[in-house]
Amino acid sequence: MRLKGKTAVITGGTRGLGLAIAREFLAEGANVVCAARSRGDVEKLLEEHPERSRFLLADVSDPGAMPDVMRAADAEFGGIDTVVANAGVNRDGKIESLAYEDWRAVMDTNLTGVFLSVQAAVPYLRKSGGSVITVSSCMGSRVAVGAAGYAASKAAVEMFTRVAAIELGRAGVRVNSLAPGFLDEGMGRELVSNERAWEAYRKRFALGRAGEVGEAARAAVFLASEDASYVNGEILGVNGGLLWA
Ligand SMILES: NC(=O)c1ccc[n+]([C@@H]2O[C@H](COP(=O)([O-])OP(=O)(O)OC[C@H]3O[C@@H](n4cnc5c(N)ncnc54)[C@H](OP(=O)(O)O)[C@@H]3O)[C@@H](O)[C@H]2O)c1
Repeated sequence: MRLKGKTAVITGGTRGLGLAIAREFLAEGANVVCAARSRGDVEKLLEEHPERSRFLLADVSDPGAMPDVMRAADAEFGGIDTVVANAGVNRDGKIESLAYEDWRAVMDTNLTGVFLSVQAAVPYLRKSGGSVITVSSCMGSRVAVGAAGYAASKAAVEMFTRVAAIELGRAGVRVNSLAPGFLDEGMGRELVSNERAWEAYRKRFALGRAGEVGEAARAAVFLASEDASYVNGEILGVNGGLLWA
């Protein structure tokens, strides 16, 4: 019960990694507020934890949305201790052919969405002495053909995280990033479930397998908990030892 009585806002907490983080946080005693543009797969979690979980409809790229989410979470649970800026999208495409709309969708969600989520949370985190977890990716520090938008957005999230950590550190607010490798749910599932593609990728993972979303989610619990009380401005890779040839 490392997060007992704490309240977390998790953007994109309705599917994939975000939903797994919500589950792990609930198991550790936290209240969770999951925010996304649709309810996704969150229903079961809400039914299982009616007292400690909420869903809020919000688009992280809308400048008006996240202040409302934070106000509602604060009103519901009496404070905010952790914000997990997890909502993200991917649109692959080589630079020559990548549509402007796809580039914008990636930047607006993955980068601007993180900025807007963190900015809206700061007043509450200053009060609680809480923490922020942004979600990057192994692609934030590696190259792949077709990944210009996604990889650039995640590299920017990592630098945003480091700057936020030094801006908020004196207020006792820690800011770290979780950088998963390929996971068995969410965005990673497509690669992992494509046998031929996965055979080629598998060799790059020291552990020889994809991660489970729970394995990445438990690293988020660590970052949110007192166990990480002196961890600030770090990018925590959870990728099974990814070799990038
Ligand atoms: N799964 C992996 O292998 C992997 C690996 C490395 C990093 N990541 C990162 O982990 C995070 C979660 O990805 P995932 O794999 O779990 O993807 P996913 O299954 O597609 O889930 C994405 C979540 O974000 C929400 N979302 C997307 N755009 C949003 C917006 N504009 N406003 C609010 N919510 C939005 C989605 O809900 P709605 O569409 O209903 O809004 C959904 O809840 C992302 O930042 C991703 O880059 C994932």
